[in-house]
Amino acid sequence: MAMAKNTLTITDNRTGKQYELPIENDTIRAADLRQIKVRPDDFGMMTYDPAFTNTASCKSKITFIDGDRGILRYRGYPIEDLAEHSNYLETAYLVVKGELPDRKRFEMWEHNVKVHTMVHENIKKFMEGYRYDAHPMGMLVGTIGALSTFYPDAASIHDLESRRLQTRRLIGKLPTLAAFAYRHSRGLPYVYPDNELSYTGNFLSMLFRMTELKYKPDPKLEHALDVLFILHADHEQNCSTNAMRSVGSSQVDPYSATAAAVAALYGPLHGGANEAVVRMLTEIGSVERIPELIKQVKAGERRLMGFGHRVYKNYDPRAKILKKAAYEVFEVTGANPLIKIALELERIALQDDYFVSRKLYPNVDFYSGIIYQAMGFPTAMFPVLFAIPRTSGWMSQWAEMVRDEEQKIARPRQVYIGEGERHYTPIDKRPVPTMREEAVAEEI
Ligand SMILES: CC(C)(COP(=O)(O)OP(=O)(O)OC[C@H]1O[C@@H](n2cnc3c(N)ncnc32)[C@H](O)[C@@H]1OP(=O)(O)O)[C@@H](O)C(=O)NCCC(=O)NCCS
Repeated sequence: MAMAKNTLTITDNRTGKQYELPIENDTIRAADLRQIKVRPDDFGMMTYDPAFTNTASCKSKITFIDGDRGILRYRGYPIEDLAEHSNYLETAYLVVKGELPDRKRFEMWEHNVKVHTMVHENIKKFMEGYRYDAHPMGMLVGTIGALSTFYPDAASIHDLESRRLQTRRLIGKLPTLAAFAYRHSRGLPYVYPDNELSYTGNFLSMLFRMTELKYKPDPKLEHALDVLFILHADHEQNCSTNAMRSVGSSQVDPYSATAAAVAALYGPLHGGANEAVVRMLTEIGSVERIPELIKQVKAGERRLMGFGHRVYKNYDPRAKILKKAAYEVFEVTGANPLIKIALELERIALQDDYFVSRKLYPNVDFYSGIIYQAMGFPTAMFPVLFAIPRTSGWMSQWAEMVRDEEQKIARPRQVYIGEGERHYTPIDKRPVPTMREEAVAEEI
């Protein structure tokens, strides 16, 4: 039997010519298609891939997802293992540096992150300038962007020590900025970090401490938040990570690139889905009304929020872990009445052919919102709680991009479908548009 060749042969039926392209990691290089031309002066063949649904933009060693089998691993470690045995800061070390730390390295890392939990007093003043009802995510976008003006050394992106320093700074400061944004929206004084507490314990203290001298976080809530942070540390090339890499590819400092990533996360299709789940469950209101909702979903009138995923075509492994964590939280907070509706909705959907045949399973957002709500977070804080742990993923992905010699400034192509060349007509000589033409112009 002839040896199988790791190549792809393409026949261009316009010319009858054949091309043999190398295959590496089950991909072909899009640039290899450029040799496919009808005339020598053609631009050459491109791929058309709106929303990058089938284009790998990088090689990465950070996160592995097998959506069909419901697998998520950071640096090779299954998410279930990390959620059960690790803590967020250790997982962040793993994501950023590639290996789990030994005790000495972990203690140094913890110290190095915690020394950066304070923010410059000017940052505090800057945040005070936001309106009283400012959305905390909007505040975060602006404030993280502003950090670049405080740390001009961050512009040295090719300097390893500078990259490490900015990574520790950002992971250290995110909980402080997030907590300040929350306190601002509540009209409460800002609480300074308490570095004797754990990463999540300190965050809870900065959020909820009132007049007590020392805030003691509930260990179960502290642990549940830590698990949530582990689950959100990275998720390979999602919208915000793509923004981080794309903006970072211009060689701007990492604070500016992170502000872009947070802005991407602000969108309802990315960081806002768990809020939509809580809204939907609240609207359903009681288990008896679930069949009615399922009917509407099957008729294509609406979507079941928290179900389905671009990548996972199986149960999202993070949703499984969160379903368990929810009960841990409820032991402290009392059950969120929405959980009953969620469980029944899941039970019905997983038996229904509409959902089974489309491989629609609960995703991470199905349970995270219910937990956050039980813990007392307003819905506007949900995407902020996503941004804090994702900072380790963003910084790790950014550093991988900066070091990757194959990467350049990200600049996709387009398929131009507009007018051909036209010549300028003076304003008084232009034809009067018809009503339809005017309407079309308004639609734009
Ligand atoms: C996440 C999401 C955007 C992924 O979308 P996608 O991979 O582009 O999948 P598609 O939109 O092509 O959907 C495929 C089919 O499943 C259906 N579908 C997808 N998600 C659905 C949902 N949540 N409820 C009902 N039907 C859904 C679509 O209508 C489509 O059906 P059709 O083939 O009969 O037209 C989508 O599943 C969704 O909108 N989910 C709800 C929002 C959500 O939970 N987002 C958080 C993601 S972490």
